[in-house]
Amino acid sequence: MASLKTVLYLGVCLSVWIITTADKNFVPAAEEVHWISLDFKTTLFWTTKASKYTYTVKYFSDDHDWMESLDCIRVSHSECDLSNSLRPFDRSYYADILTEPATMDHDYDLDEFPHTYSPHFNPYRETNISAVKFTVEVVDESRVIVNITDPLTSIHERGKQLSIRDILKSDLKYKISYYKSGSTGKRDIMSDSSTAVVSGLDAGQSYCFMVAAFIPSRPQTTQNGAWSTQRCTNGHIMQELSLGAWVGVVFILLIVLIIIITVTVLCCRCCRRRNKTLHTSQSSAPV
Ligand SMILES: *[C@@H]1O[C@H](CO)[C@@H](O)[C@H](O)[C@H]1NC(C)=O
Ligand SMILES: *[C@@H]1O[C@H](CO)[C@@H](O)[C@H](O)[C@H]1NC(C)=O
Repeated sequence: MASLKTVLYLGVCLSVWIITTADKNFVPAAEEVHWISLDFKTTLFWTTKASKYTYTVKYFSDDHDWMESLDCIRVSHSECDLSNSLRPFDRSYYADILTEPATMDHDYDLDEFPHTYSPHFNPYRETNISAVKFTVEVVDESRVIVNITDPLTSIHERGKQLSIRDILKSDLKYKISYYKSGSTGKRDIMSDSSTAVVSGLDAGQSYCFMVAAFIPSRPQTTQNGAWSTQRCTNGHIMQELSLGAWVGVVFILLIVLIIIITVTVLCCRCCRRRNKTLHTSQSSAPV
């Protein structure tokens, strides 16, 4: 009986030992590590199989030692915003995600836990550029001004929120694509600045415009920003007038009308008086 007890006891001990070791050995590594970056807001994402772990992110560039992102030490979510850490922008970075148990005993050795490396990422060359907002102002019958608002980034410097122009500077161009309403032929022009004059338009025609950021210095796959929605002009310049201009036009018309009426009334009075004088002089003249 005593020996059976010992065997049972041993068995229990063994299984506990196996379970504990197994638990330690199967700490899940972060998986599907990938970057998502839009207008220089750059976030590292990963997936996890279990919820009782935390993650610490370190990042490296080729010519620097590793650094820790202060916002991503022992976090329980599976993302890390590195927008403000990956500086300078034009460097290739990679990150390392370490998995740790949420309740960490001091005798744990960090080297026991799995970690996963991310793919390389260069914010300057690979961040996606969002669709821009722009206005089209008619200058005259054959010209318009396309006025583009540079998208803002999530990068702040000296209290100012930087735009993509502040970072990309003269590397940033815009592609303006336009077509005459009802025709299929599209024309493209490239603009170095955020304000472009498009000329050579046909008078009285309606045109539609679309704009996208374009960065020729980048590798071909990341040169194009997203296309904006299109904006069209009305065919007739009159319809381009703003409410203010319309009020002005009505005002001028009113004044002209008043002048015409006044002049007519004055003239009539004048004529009548002259007619009367003529009459009087005629009748009083000796025959
Ligand atoms: C940029 O956008 C493309 C297309 O939507 C997407 O496939 C890619 O993952 C994005 N890249 C980054 C770094 O966010
Ligand atoms: C372009 O638009 C911005 C604001 O949207 C305005 O401040 C600026 O004066 C405009 N520029 C031109 C040339 O119309």
